Amino acid sequence: MPPRSSPRGGCKRLPPTLSWKGGTGGHVVLIDQTLLPGQLKLIRVSTVTAMWEAIRSLRVRGAPAIGVAAAYGVVLGAQTSRARGWKGLARDVLGAIDRLATSRPTAVNLFRALDRMRDCWDRLEVLESGKPLDRQELLSVLLAEARAIHEEDAALCAAIGRHGASLLRDGCRILTHCNAGALATGGSGTALSVIYAAQELGKRIHVYSDETRPLLQGARLTCWELQRSGVDVTLICDNAAASIFRAGLVDAVIVGADRIAANGDVANKIGTYGVAVLAREHGVPFYVAAPSTTFDLSLRNGKRIPIEERSSAEVTGSPRQRTAPRGIRVLNPAFDVTPARYVTAIFTEQGVLRPPLESSIRRALRNRG
Ligand code: MRU
Repeated sequence: MPPRSSPRGGCKRLPPTLSWKGGTGGHVVLIDQTLLPGQLKLIRVSTVTAMWEAIRSLRVRGAPAIGVAAAYGVVLGAQTSRARGWKGLARDVLGAIDRLATSRPTAVNLFRALDRMRDCWDRLEVLESGKPLDRQELLSVLLAEARAIHEEDAALCAAIGRHGASLLRDGCRILTHCNAGALATGGSGTALSVIYAAQELGKRIHVYSDETRPLLQGARLTCWELQRSGVDVTLICDNAAASIFRAGLVDAVIVGADRIAANGDVANKIGTYGVAVLAREHGVPFYVAAPSTTFDLSLRNGKRIPIEERSSAEVTGSPRQRTAPRGIRVLNPAFDVTPARYVTAIFTEQGVLRPPLESSIRRALRNRG
């Protein structure tokens, strides 16, 4: 079932990225994004191990989407526990939370969602000391919390889209990197939600999508979802970006984020920093679209954001064809950090945050839970 209040906005033609099927005792169904665009395949996920694997291998990916997936993963942990007593169940639920937290390190949304599920569990434990809850009741409380995280994410995406779209003029040409669309969230996306919302307002928008080496989220996912949603999109190689800027073809950059530090430094897909520097060089605004769940105010700046290092095999070719010699040394960081000084504004559900970002972020997130 898609989130009940899911405002899918301009991307109605896309199936939900992930959803919980059934009530308690149900399972997660998600689009296996590693197969796109060739195959649109929905897979069923019923255990914590399968959810961990789906996140780790990027079947489900994008900061908000992995937060939602992990929250459902905790429900699966409670559901598949064989423990009879409260203590054993607590061990399995908390074990599921700890295990899911090891799936990917950079997107803070994952940890925020897991913290919420842990808080929900802690409240249940307090209840248990007063009046015993039956297993069914307990599962429905956990499932309700995971669904709330999902529905809230969809609402955050819609609000980001509304705020960002007001800044785009008719005929605007946008460059984006990686995929920060519906596929990456529980709703209509972050960066792409702005484009969907602008299009719904009747503005004509053209998108340049960087292919986004090495896993090609731009080519495979952004182009797929924009094309399916009727948005005018052109695919470019990552290394064509500089000349596209130079030719004056880009009016604005909009990207998503995996974690934003208190000073406005932004971690996002590897290559984003280069795009930001290009945008500055060519006098083009560089916008970041992200919900409040992507901010990590415990980090003063981006230096301590953990950057995921992925397998060298992602860079040296595909299972069918090697593109680099055997034994080559490879560096494969999956994310980079764009210093706040390159960011023109951040679109959040609270509105458009402008520099000085440190104080605008503090003001906007003052009331965040
Ligand atoms: O490795 P991925 O595909 O999970 O990386 C995703 C990104 O970098 C996105 O830009 C980011 O998570 C924002 S998604 C709304």
